[in-house]
Amino acid sequence: MKILVIGSGGREHCLVWKLAQSREVNKIFSAPGNGGISELAECVDISPTDIKGLADFAKQKEIDLTVVGSEDPLVAGIVDEFESRGLKIFGPSKRGAKLEGSKIFAKELMRKYGIPTADFAVFDSFKKAIAYLQEIEFPCVLKADGLAGGKGSIVVHSKEEGESTINKMMIEKIFGAAGEKIIIEKFLTGQEASIIAVTDGKTILPLPSSQDHKQIYDGDRGPNTGGMGAYSPAPIVDKQRFDFSKEKILEGIIRGLREEGIIYKGIIYAGVMINKEEVKVLEFNVRFGDPETQAVLPRLNNDLVEILSATLDNRLEEIELDITPQSAVCVVLTSRGYPGKYERGKGVFGLDKIEDALVFHAGTRLVGSRQLAAGNEKFVTNGGRVLGITALGDSLGQAIDKVYREIDKIHFEGMQYRRDIGKKGLRV
Ligand code: AMP
Ligand code: GLY
Repeated sequence: MKILVIGSGGREHCLVWKLAQSREVNKIFSAPGNGGISELAECVDISPTDIKGLADFAKQKEIDLTVVGSEDPLVAGIVDEFESRGLKIFGPSKRGAKLEGSKIFAKELMRKYGIPTADFAVFDSFKKAIAYLQEIEFPCVLKADGLAGGKGSIVVHSKEEGESTINKMMIEKIFGAAGEKIIIEKFLTGQEASIIAVTDGKTILPLPSSQDHKQIYDGDRGPNTGGMGAYSPAPIVDKQRFDFSKEKILEGIIRGLREEGIIYKGIIYAGVMINKEEVKVLEFNVRFGDPETQAVLPRLNNDLVEILSATLDNRLEEIELDITPQSAVCVVLTSRGYPGKYERGKGVFGLDKIEDALVFHAGTRLVGSRQLAAGNEKFVTNGGRVLGITALGDSLGQAIDKVYREIDKIHFEGMQYRRDIGKKGLRV
């Protein structure tokens, strides 16, 4: 089988790593891929949003299955384009991907089908949004309707902050057209978790729970990032909360979509807030999480191709998941300055010394043999999030100890990471 994986992050490296283990796979391409991916797959320089270019490539190379990493191509309709050309691709259609592409669509669907989520109001008028700030309590959350690279949700603590944020979204248009309509939402407290499932539109197969760490600094302080680390399972998601998430949230939304005439296939990811007995949806995503995937897939013993193929053939009910009881912890190493401006081109040292962890590359570039620098480093940094290091352990504590021991062997100039990934899970 020939597989194409679209994307260039740690999540995509993890997908390529897992797919490469399948008995059915003999060749993987990745568009555009990254330094680490290039060791397992042939990287081709096509942008994830060049949907026609990707479909042309898949047709020409006779790709048997395409797997999409990030939301942008899904929301833009890559699945519809591939399917119209008779190409197999794993993911929801454009109409299904709207669940992530429009927060208003997702929230209204949740309201209609009784899926627990924070109370909210929708605005397309700047004046009305400003006036609404008189009526609500602070903090509250302002959300741009459309895709904003994960930065479109902002917690505001006062009327003044609310006014200035609404101004930025709706008048200055810092998120472009994505912020023309906004949601003002009640602030929820508790602990966040990620429930990621595979579905063929009928069967929901939840993968183990996980928890991301979005803020840049230890103790969940500082600005939000793409994710500084993740671990799985998340003990906060006990059996009762897991079952509730499966039955009331995931099955509820898939059923709701079906009633709207949308057969949803692919990954459905619920970002939830847990507060005592309450589990409420913060957002739905229509793809694997990053970096959750780097903590979840290493625990999966099944052949991933079998799961993806069963989804496309509407026989997901036949699959039984085989999950290792071990815990996995993934710590993300970033460039100095991230999530703001950062430098690139720093040599990455020590990867050859890693013995007991998985190394998933995000922003790295393979150095050509002619350019090999004096220190003989094979990879240089090429992004904000550079590497994700995942270790497995018989307990969460062991996995944490192991991952940090391995990270001590890695170095690049300006390397930053959180020291407390997974620690929240020890306190549950
Ligand atoms: P979203 O873009 O909806 O996934 O939100 C991004 C992040 O903003 C979430 O992971 C939460 O940390 C935070 N957030 C979103 N909605 C709420 C809410 N209603 N209450 C508290 N925090 C929220
Ligand atoms: N880890 C958050 C996300 O993938 O959206």
